[in-house]
Amino acid sequence: MLVSYHRVDELGVITINNPPVNALSHGVRQGVQQAITAAQADDSKAIVILCEGRTFIAGADITEFGKPMQAPSLPEVNAALEASAKPVIAALHGTALGGGLELALSCHYRCATASAKVGLPEVTLGLIPGAGGTQRVPRLIGVPAALDMITGGHRIGAEQALALGLIDRLLDDTLEAGALAYARELVAAGAGPRRIRDMSIAADSCDPDTIAAYRDRLHKRRRGQEAPQIIVDCVEVAMTTPFDEGLAYERARFVERTQSEQSAALRHMFFAERQAPKVPGLDQAVAPRNIERVAVVGAGTMGGGIAMAFANAGIPVTLLERDQEGLDAGLALIDKNYGITVSKGKLTPDEASERQALIAGTTDYQALAKVELVIEAVFENMDVKKQVFARLDEVCKPGAILATNTSYLDINEIAAATTRPEDVVGLHFFSPANVMRLLEVVRAAHTADAVIATAMALGRRIGKVPVLAGVCFGFIGNRMLRQYVREAQLCLIEGAEPAQIDGVLTRFGMAMGPLAVGDLSGLDISYKARQALTREQKGDPRSYAIADALVEMGRLGQKTGAGYYRYDPQTRARTADPEVLAVIEAQAEKHGVTRRELSDEEILDRHLMALINEGFRILEEGIAQRPSDIDAVYVHGYGFPAYRGGPMFYAGRRGLRAVRERIEGLHASTGEAHWQPAPLLVELVEADQTLDDWLASRTRAAGQ
Ligand code: 3HC
Ligand code: NAI
Repeated sequence: MLVSYHRVDELGVITINNPPVNALSHGVRQGVQQAITAAQADDSKAIVILCEGRTFIAGADITEFGKPMQAPSLPEVNAALEASAKPVIAALHGTALGGGLELALSCHYRCATASAKVGLPEVTLGLIPGAGGTQRVPRLIGVPAALDMITGGHRIGAEQALALGLIDRLLDDTLEAGALAYARELVAAGAGPRRIRDMSIAADSCDPDTIAAYRDRLHKRRRGQEAPQIIVDCVEVAMTTPFDEGLAYERARFVERTQSEQSAALRHMFFAERQAPKVPGLDQAVAPRNIERVAVVGAGTMGGGIAMAFANAGIPVTLLERDQEGLDAGLALIDKNYGITVSKGKLTPDEASERQALIAGTTDYQALAKVELVIEAVFENMDVKKQVFARLDEVCKPGAILATNTSYLDINEIAAATTRPEDVVGLHFFSPANVMRLLEVVRAAHTADAVIATAMALGRRIGKVPVLAGVCFGFIGNRMLRQYVREAQLCLIEGAEPAQIDGVLTRFGMAMGPLAVGDLSGLDISYKARQALTREQKGDPRSYAIADALVEMGRLGQKTGAGYYRYDPQTRARTADPEVLAVIEAQAEKHGVTRRELSDEEILDRHLMALINEGFRILEEGIAQRPSDIDAVYVHGYGFPAYRGGPMFYAGRRGLRAVRERIEGLHASTGEAHWQPAPLLVELVEADQTLDDWLASRTRAAGQ
């Protein structure tokens, strides 16, 4: 039974049990409504509402959005709770989120266990609270705090929630015993219903200028996102309109949001992230290995960040460098990075020291003898990596997982440098590794199922989005990135300027444009990588001529004050540089390209179609398990806007037929082989199928 009602002495207790997260699906809404009606009719003096399992209600059932709503709606259930003639007490544990918190706010009192968290995360799904959140929260905690809470979407710990007034009592006891004791106390004190709807918002709570400034800040910080501004609309309505009108306004805007493209995309991402770590077909008999201690080899940019990622999750790390000097530099960088986090107020000095204490430096491989996992992050050079793996093979205990963070190298070849290729896997982190959520888990030819299962579980444990990839040049993300960067270079040589290209892509929602990213990471990095490639691997010379020329002029990007742009040494503000235009024009002439005007639409489409076409190839080769994994890679590793759902979701919304036609159009106009539409794309369009159809038929064929 999803919802039950029973009596404990003078109290009526409503219990919800809808695993895994007690989402407010239709049956739960109906059950709560029936229970509250039953409770009104008996002689109970107060009603307690709580949940079984790991959490209080974590929100509306996201799978129901976009489908016809079945009565009762959550606002109807909440109205019944709020109207109760007897006091209703919500008892929170786990995560009381979204509609779950809104239901609790319709109760008259709220108590919570110390570990409980509350929040209104609707904004992260492109939604707004749809059952009173924007109307009740400002009444309860004031407009400024409400705006931060609802537009931020973050979770608030029980203690802070108590301080804000979102909850009334912290429980020292277990949930049910504590909640019943609190309810008895309220009954004894003769406390009646206390309805937030009857509270008023202080007239001086927030003036129009403050709201306008808030909106401006949101425009900058949540660029391109619609929901945050609509939340401000609703809170403004709460300030000026009677409660029921405000509620109706909020509901109408919420329903609109459930039908919006941005919410469809963000809901897709919600499920994509949770789907990605699942690997059907793994041998179910093998359990993931236990990982208690980790080592990282190489304390450079990536090694240091990876060490921090583990320390942040409370896992001890040994960091190995080739000499003391390298180790000191690596540890100093980690120290500096923690210092920055503390100065931003994101960690206390004590928390930072605790984490840093989990990282031990060494130059001795024997220190790696006891760890369960080693991640190699040395130079991107096959010989160096092979030497490291041969050494790891000698010192690491049996069953230890030996992982490489290589960006492009063949992991099968690296694995062959050991006597245990079944324990070798790619764990490809993204820079900065302590921040970026993507983790590509690369399965090599001999990688054991247990190693994949362990990597997926560990990835989640350290807060990453782990995505399975197969071995190929660049795996999923960097393989797609090459196509994208190539288009940026071709657009430049054919007629665009850096600011136009970056402007088009940032307006689309990318965190940064491709040329600004190049300047940030340093143009010398890809230059050096290109030097190691054969002429054939490098591809069309027009696709790197400008980048090479800039590096050869000493324009390496931000670090030299000039790359595709010029940078102010103090502020790092970037401006267009006529010298770059001269370089572009000279390279165009050298390569026989007549520059022309490129429309924004052409620039955008060429970048997106390049990603999508490669995405289809990656799918048909089995390098990615499913389309949504590619979306998770691009959103969490490369700054693709989550509110557009990733390149493959975008392709589906645009329509595969339209995508194929666009790619064929580019092929016809350029004659370039890379614009041949991927066979899988052609096949799906011909069969009139979607990517979901394709995935479903593959899953059926595999018997999963
Ligand atoms: N609806 C449907 N399914 C949900 C769900 C929801 N609200 N929340 C979680 N799930 C599912 C997940 O998809 C996952 O399914 P799977 O096992 O098949 O992959 C399962 O529950 C467990 O979820 P997690 O793996 O995320 O479990 P965690 O323990 O890591 O996290 C959580 C739990 C913090 C509750 C997290 O799931 C979460 O943040 N959920 C979403 C919360 C949310 O956004 N609520 C607001 C919804 S919108 C709303 O309420 C509108 C209202 O204003 C009207
Ligand atoms: P880096 O040059 O900053 O760091 C490499 C470190 O390895 C140096 O500190 C060096 O002293 C150390 N090292 C070299 N040989 C060693 C050895 N034999 N034993 C121990 N330490 C040794 O390089 P970075 O950028 O950290 O890259 C490391 C790896 O991560 C490469 O394979 C790279 O392709 C990959 N990678 C890099 C990303 C980036 O954005 N920089 C992103 C994802 C992967």
